[in-house]
Amino acid sequence: MIELNDSIVISLGGSVISGDPIDADYMRDFASLLESSKYRRVGIVTGGGRTARSYISVLRKLNVNENVLDEIGIYATRMNALSMASLMPGSNPMIPFTVEEAVNLMNTYRFVIMGGTEPGHTTDTVAALLCERSGVKTLINVTSVDGVYDMDPNKFANAKRYERIGYREAIALSTKSSTGAGPNVFMDITALTIAMRSRIRVIVTSRDLANLEKILNGDQAISTFIDDGQKL
Ligand code: UTP
Repeated sequence: MIELNDSIVISLGGSVISGDPIDADYMRDFASLLESSKYRRVGIVTGGGRTARSYISVLRKLNVNENVLDEIGIYATRMNALSMASLMPGSNPMIPFTVEEAVNLMNTYRFVIMGGTEPGHTTDTVAALLCERSGVKTLINVTSVDGVYDMDPNKFANAKRYERIGYREAIALSTKSSTGAGPNVFMDITALTIAMRSRIRVIVTSRDLANLEKILNGDQAISTFIDDGQKL
């Protein structure tokens, strides 16, 4: 049994909520799971998913400025955030533009939902910054892989998932997979670096809600804990 305290931040990967255009059923089930959880303050940062990726790839071929592409990606993340907020009673009706605004909203709403903020990073980093700024010590990254592996699990059948790994090893693995250009980076390096400097425990897991429920209850589940290796 692993006790998390009463506040958490969740980075809800765009690939997790991306349907055509969004998976509203999943979002609703995710909302009910969080509503029935014990957590008093929950920050949720939504990714841009398929919408962001398709705009960015079409426009990149036409040589659109990378900073503008990021800005377009941010619009997609904010669209997902507003969709999520609309399906989640007890959340902020307006999507904040900055982490500071989101932290302020945490005084009013149990669930604070936001997307990206400015060009140059991803929503994983926004989620890490939201943890850091609000003093929340646990970041759950709900993403397209169910944990951190020693090799790409889609390519190697013998890939092994870590139950627990240190920040530095996680950063090394994230660096290795991002240079291999693929969607399997479990979390970006900037987000991990912020987690390390502020000792935020990161839990990487998949979109499976039964499994996420176990994590929220502190029970044994399929995931990887990234932390400083101190006693849990
Ligand atoms: P995501 O965070 O969704 O990126 O933001 P992603 O890594 O492609 O992740 P998944 O699939 O959702 O997990 C989408 C894009 O929006 C821009 C970036 O271009 C990013 O790739 N963005 C997002 C920013 O520039 N700043 C932000 O704060 C957030």
